[in-house]
Amino acid sequence: MNSTHAKTADEQTAPDEKAVRERAVAEARSTGTTLGPEFHTGQGPWLRTADGTAWFDGTSGSGAATLGHQHPAVVAAATVQLGKLVHTGCKLGSDARAELVRRLGELSPYRTPAVLPTVTGAEAVESALKIARAATGKRAVVGFTHGYHGKTAGALGLTWRAEFKAYSALDPDAVVTADLPELRDAVGPEERAAFLAGLEAALDRADALGGTAAVVLEPIQVTEGLLIVPPTLLDAIARAAHARGALLVLDEIYTGLGRAGRLFTAELMTETPDLTLVGKTLGNGFPIGAVVGERAVLDALPAGVQTSTFSGSPVSCAAAVAVLETVVAEELPARARVLGARLAEDLARLAKTYPWLSRVRTAGALAAVDCVRAGRPDPALAGAVREAALRGRLLLFGGGPEGATLKIVPPALLTESEYHVLVAGLTEAFGAADRQPADGAGEGRR
Ligand SMILES: Cc1ncc(COP(=O)(O)O)c(C=O)c1O
Repeated sequence: MNSTHAKTADEQTAPDEKAVRERAVAEARSTGTTLGPEFHTGQGPWLRTADGTAWFDGTSGSGAATLGHQHPAVVAAATVQLGKLVHTGCKLGSDARAELVRRLGELSPYRTPAVLPTVTGAEAVESALKIARAATGKRAVVGFTHGYHGKTAGALGLTWRAEFKAYSALDPDAVVTADLPELRDAVGPEERAAFLAGLEAALDRADALGGTAAVVLEPIQVTEGLLIVPPTLLDAIARAAHARGALLVLDEIYTGLGRAGRLFTAELMTETPDLTLVGKTLGNGFPIGAVVGERAVLDALPAGVQTSTFSGSPVSCAAAVAVLETVVAEELPARARVLGARLAEDLARLAKTYPWLSRVRTAGALAAVDCVRAGRPDPALAGAVREAALRGRLLLFGGGPEGATLKIVPPALLTESEYHVLVAGLTEAFGAADRQPADGAGEGRR
């Protein structure tokens, strides 16, 4: 067609079907799939393709499907809600939202709790930063080496990995990343002193930027490889924050509601975190997160400053209420701890066969192991394990500061036979990677 030809009304409303079909439309590279095929159905730890082939989800869908895919109680609650009321917008209430607020507040470690619902985890982080600024009247925030808090601009300010931060629009004058020793190993008195000195120096820097509003911490840095912060340090961090008039924001988006073996990490602490962030498990796949804290702290933020159209979506809230009921009824934290203890034992046994499996660690239904050869983290070896796992239809994420960590994040409610499938899949993948030459194929992809 002549490009200068003006289209008639008919031509405008009847596009060439064939040309439309042949247009190569793709999902953006940034959000596109990085692991496995397109899935069609799910159930428990299983994801199935349209032809019925089953894959074991050792990622729990980015850590969210902690009760397993399509958990019947969650799906039933959401289905009932779908038939009643899908949407109100954040400025109009719903009984589903009121119920979620009440249930989550009641389970939380706060005396007079308030809950701010969000759509995503990153939105909970953004909201917490605003609340901390409103509550303290200060602006600067302190995050930690190896932290991960999501990929929106404010959250990215606190996220450690440089390639994620590169496109952040956050005012860099407001964030200090505490230059801390790695928290991966047990801390002796000297390390503890060095850690606290580093934290005080970071707080000094943040104070010099006009005052510290918040210290934001994951009790376990899951995304960067399951780096566990010793509970005694959690209290020390809380006290250091409070001494400066700053809030401690505990980002429990990955760890909270039972995944890491506790409902809330506050159970392990003497101090109570000022704000607790939850997400992932809260919806078991439905998009929802929340900030929880004392009402006086949350209500420092004036009405309307933090809203988003879909926050408190009735369907997500109904699903989340069913999640909380199931977490309590199934004693999820205890179940997760049992699963973690079994995984720790089985991984330690496998590490005897494959000595390059280093530093097995678990926290509830979270497990990780590093691939280390000739004394050095080996991302190619970790990649080879993940590719071998994939060939055996076991989905695993990598991670770790050097990309040499394997993360094992199954749903926490596994049957006996499902657990054996997982361990058999890991055994097979470790064996296959071990048989590859030292410079074997594969990269430590995240
Ligand atoms: C600790 C932590 N905070 C925040 C986030 C961001 O949550 P979302 O991806 O739902 O925005 C994540 C996601 O992995 C996380 O692990």
